Amino acid sequence: MRGLNGKIALVTGGLGDLGYAAGQRLKEEGCKVILVDLQPDTEGKSKQIDAAFVQLDISQEQAVKKTCETIAEEIGHVHILVNTAACFVFKGVDATEEDWAKINAVNIGGTSLMAKYIVPQMRKNGGGSIINFSSVSGFVGQSNFATYNATKFAIRGLTKCWAQDLAPDGIRVNTLCPGYIYTKAFINSCKKLGLDIEEENRRASAMHLLNRQGRVEEVAAAVAFLASDDSSFITGSDLLVDGGYLAK
Ligand SMILES: NC(=O)c1ccc[n+]([C@@H]2O[C@H](COP(=O)([O-])OP(=O)(O)OC[C@H]3O[C@@H](n4cnc5c(N)ncnc54)[C@H](O)[C@@H]3O)[C@@H](O)[C@H]2O)c1
Repeated sequence: MRGLNGKIALVTGGLGDLGYAAGQRLKEEGCKVILVDLQPDTEGKSKQIDAAFVQLDISQEQAVKKTCETIAEEIGHVHILVNTAACFVFKGVDATEEDWAKINAVNIGGTSLMAKYIVPQMRKNGGGSIINFSSVSGFVGQSNFATYNATKFAIRGLTKCWAQDLAPDGIRVNTLCPGYIYTKAFINSCKKLGLDIEEENRRASAMHLLNRQGRVEEVAAAVAFLASDDSSFITGSDLLVDGGYLAK
């Protein structure tokens, strides 16, 4: 056993490709799972994995506070917080004030607000694990991606600061950094841009030493590792799940 059985895990962006896979894996490992997302769960995805669902905009402080209080009352104090929710604004030097406000409010602000209201619950539990989603985009420059990459660099900074602040409480904080993952979002964006999916998949695959995109289950396995006692001596780290993207 690696200490996940009976733990309460909250996953933001829980209806997204990676958040849902993380929720599913944590459920399989015995956690009580709460999926949180901006979108309503119209397809009943949470029910399919026997998870609770809360519709929430993580960038709205009063709503975050209220949701966290309700979860504590109705489900219990959260042990594991997985911050996958993200806003995708891809702009270069021409980014506007509005672009910055939008992406910062969710990727940096929302991630921070979730931690702000869940950390007191973790303290009551005597510890916990926070997993913040960055990306290979949090390590390198990519053309016309300044807005997104800046927030993914920032997530790594937040993680390292919080790891220092929260270590005395037994709360570990780590960053998970995926490479390109073959998701529905990838397929939909190819369709939207009129790009050939197979060709784009080959192009993306070639960026990784393993010559393929990752699978959502491979990222979810890393989430479960960072959530569990198997990673009990790991905090303030960046875990790359990138098929060797950054080793090239
Ligand atoms: N998919 C990839 O290839 C990849 C690679 C590297 C890093 N990542 C990171 O992984 C994370 C998840 O990505 P994904 O591919 O699953 O994306 P996704 O678009 O499938 O999921 C993101 C989810 O976040 C939700 N969300 C957006 N704004 C929100 C808000 N204000 N409040 C609550 N929920 C909100 C969306 O509704 C969506 O369900 C992101 O942080 C992303 O940067 C993804």
